[in-house]
Amino acid sequence: MASSFGAAQVLVASNRGPVSYAVADDGSLRSKRGGGGLVSGLSAIGPDSGALWVCSALSDGDREAVRRGVGEDGVRMLDIPADVHADAYNGVANSVLWFVHHMLYQTPLEPAFDAEFRRQWASYETYNRAFARALAEEAAEGAAVLVQDYHLTLVPGMLRELRSDLRIGHFSHTPWAPPEYFAMLPDDIARQVLRGMLGADRLGFLTHRWADAFTACCERFAGGLGGTRIGVHGLGADADFLRARSHEADVDERMAALREEIGEGRRTVVRVDRTELSKNIVRGLLAYRQLLEDRPEWRERVVHLAFAYPSRQDLAVYRDYTAEVQRLAQEINEQYGTPGWRPVVLHVRDDFARSLAAYRLADVALVNPIRDGMNLVAKEVPVVSDAGCALVLSREAGAHEELGEDAITVNPYDVVQTAEALHEALSMRPEDRTERSKRLAAAATALPPARWFLDQLEALRG
Ligand code: G6P
Repeated sequence: MASSFGAAQVLVASNRGPVSYAVADDGSLRSKRGGGGLVSGLSAIGPDSGALWVCSALSDGDREAVRRGVGEDGVRMLDIPADVHADAYNGVANSVLWFVHHMLYQTPLEPAFDAEFRRQWASYETYNRAFARALAEEAAEGAAVLVQDYHLTLVPGMLRELRSDLRIGHFSHTPWAPPEYFAMLPDDIARQVLRGMLGADRLGFLTHRWADAFTACCERFAGGLGGTRIGVHGLGADADFLRARSHEADVDERMAALREEIGEGRRTVVRVDRTELSKNIVRGLLAYRQLLEDRPEWRERVVHLAFAYPSRQDLAVYRDYTAEVQRLAQEINEQYGTPGWRPVVLHVRDDFARSLAAYRLADVALVNPIRDGMNLVAKEVPVVSDAGCALVLSREAGAHEELGEDAITVNPYDVVQTAEALHEALSMRPEDRTERSKRLAAAATALPPARWFLDQLEALRG
């Protein structure tokens, strides 16, 4: 059978891959490379490592690239039918599994697992099977396969059935739900998800808290972990990349433009997020409004740079949330703004250089998610900020496990406490702030992406 094995020694599988394509006006295909921890992690093993990244075609441009046979070495895009992908990605992964792990349901009305959900679930199985088959085709004998995230929970089990020789790992970039919340899923589906994951030799999580929740779910619904090993790898910020990138010319230009918007001599509270329900942007704005109300001494002296970039706009609940963020920012500006001072500067167009410019200018970083697997913004701002920043951090962010000591901790639901934390952060003595920011940056970069990736690979092979 060895002749039917593929060539790849290391395989990564994720829904979103490292490259995407768009059809230009002249009909040609333009490619764009993405960033993130996985991309820099995988680059650590080098171009001759025989690595292959299997991902979904997500756009018309991607599908066209697959049809034309256009692609990059080391990347295989799967052209899963668009309706199957939409059911799996929007219907199951983003509307159910994401909601369960981030505990986002408004439970008097939702979820209701109806016949429509069962239909979407069948698509999720089809989509996971397409990944398992592609990985089985491409993997060399005994290869290591690193499957990513809640989109692909069934892949380890399916792949194990096809190829018992492989070393299979799975990594969760999200929180994991506690058993009493996970129990909302239909019983058979809860078991299927856990058994799918337990098909792996080793499962990775960002924090001990999420790993423990997974173990508790397995004890309750799957009779324990079986032979599967569990590891914790807290992905850190990529200091070298961030420090270099944040001093390029386009970032300097954005800084100048932001300084205009901020005005002379004012402090800045910075947040940068996808407009994501779990990021808690609305309560962040409410807390900032409370600060202006309770502490009038900050009026005219502080500006909130709130960058909320569009995400998952196919889902109505995300569109509504985006609209609420915009409405509230405008309301605060109308309520408190003066001719020379705009209290909230909200930007919604994704611009990485501008995010880095805001990081450099940050006096305070506000990171207040309801629940978050890690939250890299909390780790990135202390590394990049020019003068060192104070960090207001939700205790429900995974990053809190590593940064809690030098951050100002908040309960993300407590708007009054968050307003007080903003006041404390803004009032911090400059020398204390610099010291704390240095310690935050050191903790934030303890496990850079390359090491994070190699540790997992070594643990899987070991
Ligand atoms: C965040 C999460 C990841 C997830 C990704 C998907 O970055 O931390 O766990 O894979 O979102 O985002 P997308 O835009 O592809 O839905």
